[in-house]
Amino acid sequence: MNSADFTSDAFVAKMDSYLKNHLSPSRYEHSASTADTCRALAAKFGYDQKLAYFTGLAHDIAREYSKEELVEWASRDGKPVRDLDLASPVLLHGRAGAMVLKKEFGIEDQDVLDALSAHTTGTAGMKSLAKILFVADYIEPKRKHITPEFLASLEGLDLDGMVYAVLMGTLNHLASKGKGVDPEALELKQELEHAE
Ligand SMILES: [Fe+2]
Ligand SMILES: [Fe+2]
Repeated sequence: MNSADFTSDAFVAKMDSYLKNHLSPSRYEHSASTADTCRALAAKFGYDQKLAYFTGLAHDIAREYSKEELVEWASRDGKPVRDLDLASPVLLHGRAGAMVLKKEFGIEDQDVLDALSAHTTGTAGMKSLAKILFVADYIEPKRKHITPEFLASLEGLDLDGMVYAVLMGTLNHLASKGKGVDPEALELKQELEHAE
């Protein structure tokens, strides 16, 4: 299915009702709010708003899967499932979600699939759509941890600047909890710090 098909009003409505029926109410609300925020960021940065909305809506489609389901679905993308993932299978919900969109919904758009795969931790080499999702997932208005000061600090930043701010917010949070950081997130940090 190409993007004109899966971003059509009919298909978006179908995805919306699927998510409403399969996710907890709060996760569904977060998904809808992330979709709205994706659309706003796409408008701001001149990206395809329908594609961004759909990607935001669907991004947590596998977030409530069991550990076993997460490992099984994620491994279908052919990349290794790391010890780190097995220790914390929720990290796999992005990769698993990408495979659900591909295999259950026929979505082949690589930018959408990559955006879902990368959204959990961030990774080097993300394209615009993945960056929009990464930022929107963190700043959507239903998120409790976002302060007006943090949102104000994003004003005037370009998309990479926003990704960096969000990434540092996550890394600082993990550090404060004494939790380890996924190497993929550190690769993204390095990439952004060395970008011209
Ligand atoms: Fe997620
Ligand atoms: Fe999310």
